[in-house]
Amino acid sequence: MLALLASAALLASPALATTHNSLYSPNNYEFEPLEHLAGIAPYFDPQDPPLDPAPPQGCSVTRAAYLVRHAAIYANDFDYESYIEPFVQKLANTSADFSASPELSFLKSWKSPIADDDEEKLTKIGTLEAMSLGVELGRRYPGFKLPRKMWASTAERTVKSAQALMSGLDHRGNETQLVQIYESEESGADSLTPYKACPAYSSSRGSEQSSTFQKKYTKPILARFKAAVPGFNWTASDIYGMQQLCGYESVIKGASPFCSLSLFTPNEWLAFEYTNDIMYHHNTGYGNPISPVLGWPWVNASVAALFSDSPSAQDLYVSFTHRELPPTVLVALGLFNNSAASASNDANATMPLSQINHRRAWKSSNILSFLTNVAIEKMSCDSYGFADAGNEFYRVIVNNSPQPLDACADGPGESCARATFENWIQERADRYGDFSRECGVTYQNSTDALSIY
Ligand SMILES: *[C@@H]1O[C@H](CO)[C@@H](O)[C@H](O)[C@H]1NC(C)=O
Ligand SMILES: *[C@@H]1O[C@H](CO)[C@@H](O)[C@H](O)[C@H]1NC(C)=O
Ligand SMILES: *[C@@H]1O[C@H](CO)[C@@H](O)[C@H](O)[C@H]1NC(C)=O
Ligand SMILES: *[C@@H]1O[C@H](CO)[C@@H](O)[C@H](O)[C@H]1NC(C)=O
Ligand SMILES: *[C@@H]1O[C@H](CO)[C@@H](O)[C@H](O)[C@H]1NC(C)=O
Ligand SMILES: *[C@@H]1O[C@H](CO)[C@@H](O)[C@H](O)[C@H]1NC(C)=O
Ligand SMILES: *[C@@H]1O[C@H](CO)[C@@H](O)[C@H](O)[C@H]1NC(C)=O
Repeated sequence: MLALLASAALLASPALATTHNSLYSPNNYEFEPLEHLAGIAPYFDPQDPPLDPAPPQGCSVTRAAYLVRHAAIYANDFDYESYIEPFVQKLANTSADFSASPELSFLKSWKSPIADDDEEKLTKIGTLEAMSLGVELGRRYPGFKLPRKMWASTAERTVKSAQALMSGLDHRGNETQLVQIYESEESGADSLTPYKACPAYSSSRGSEQSSTFQKKYTKPILARFKAAVPGFNWTASDIYGMQQLCGYESVIKGASPFCSLSLFTPNEWLAFEYTNDIMYHHNTGYGNPISPVLGWPWVNASVAALFSDSPSAQDLYVSFTHRELPPTVLVALGLFNNSAASASNDANATMPLSQINHRRAWKSSNILSFLTNVAIEKMSCDSYGFADAGNEFYRVIVNNSPQPLDACADGPGESCARATFENWIQERADRYGDFSRECGVTYQNSTDALSIY
């Protein structure tokens, strides 16, 4: 009897529900579209890989450098002008009858939450999430001195994200000064937007490949919508814009009818995500040889700040940028590499345009959501079990998940010992440290290093 009661209690426990064992809860398939929206995903901790974020046994973090994408915005200019606005206008002009379709009937009365001058502005929820990340950093590093400076590129959304994070971290409100770094097209590597100063980088790269997959996955959705509401001239761009609206409307209002799983199925959300992943793969990922060169300067400057003996070194460095930079930093660090441990390096073959590679490591939702953050931490450890490696170790954390570096994981919790890390960094510096030459810079006074810290 007692055993029965105990197992009944277990059945009701949420922990067990996530084991997806059908004996204990049938039909327990769960799916959250908000975690598959690529660059429009609200901030979340993907637990990819599911390693414990707590410092390993005997270790404490003594210094950290963060790169943070700005928080949630009303809409990105390009998304708005290419997909959302045309759909919204068409909707405003249409005489099509949506009422016959249970899934689409909300469009009769739905109004766009994005006004023309809202584009690129932080939403209230985005501002709150940035502040909350500031609170979280304070909790994560209770022994740290408040930073004297933080850095942000000059766009309003990066500056306001930094101010919100500061308000969550600095309880006195006057300890941290925000330094704005101009988004120059002639800065060389010395900015938080180095891709803008790199002629070899093109912002449209990857759109051709992603549109191939977009056409493919939207076809059956178009057929379904045309059958349901024949009077609306449905296009693939409408479908894509509606899926984007799930993300934007959610970060504006907290919920969106476009996220409904009866409007788009889980598989269709995964296809939307993959379309984006293909684009980012070719744009700022392993499919673009310039990616690690763009991410390198931040890595190098951050490692230098963590190594520094200067009395003016800060415990915490935080810099704000746009969606392009964090993925290039991850490539410079060799993380989320679909080819890792495969003994081959055919990056494009891992992102086929004919079908989804569900086993890919490169999932943009996990690495460039709003407020996505990449950190390098310096740790002091009592070396218990790692005495040969000294007591100084380094690790990378992406959205609160530790990321072991390839061939640099000889420390506690798969962190990397100082000596190993120095060699590893030097080897990557040799490969990726030549910004001006690799970018084909033609303007004067370019530089290969980020020197803002
Ligand atoms: C909708 O109507 C407005 C005003 O008549 C017009 O300017 C606009 O081009 C129309 N849009 C579409 C997509 O038909
Ligand atoms: C912030 O204000 C407090 C209280 O007025 C003061 O003691 C402290 O020195 C100020 N800090 C800075 C960095 O100005
Ligand atoms: C339907 O949309 C396509 C693509 O935007 C456009 O070329 C076509 O003229 C539209 N047809 C009607 C009947 O509005
Ligand atoms: C991957 O595709 C891109 C085109 O976006 C090409 O420039 C690049 O060289 C390809 N990479 C490899 C390893 O073939
Ligand atoms: C990705 O992994 C492959 C296979 O191990 C490796 O050859 C390649 O250098 C890695 N790419 C980067 C940028 O680290
Ligand atoms: C790394 O940063 C240091 C310190 O700012 C700088 O002197 C050096 O040139 C940089 N090296 C590379 C390869 O980026
Ligand atoms: C490059 O730097 C030199 C020396 O500081 C300066 O005189 C020159 O105006 C700069 N050139 C440009 C194009 O900024």
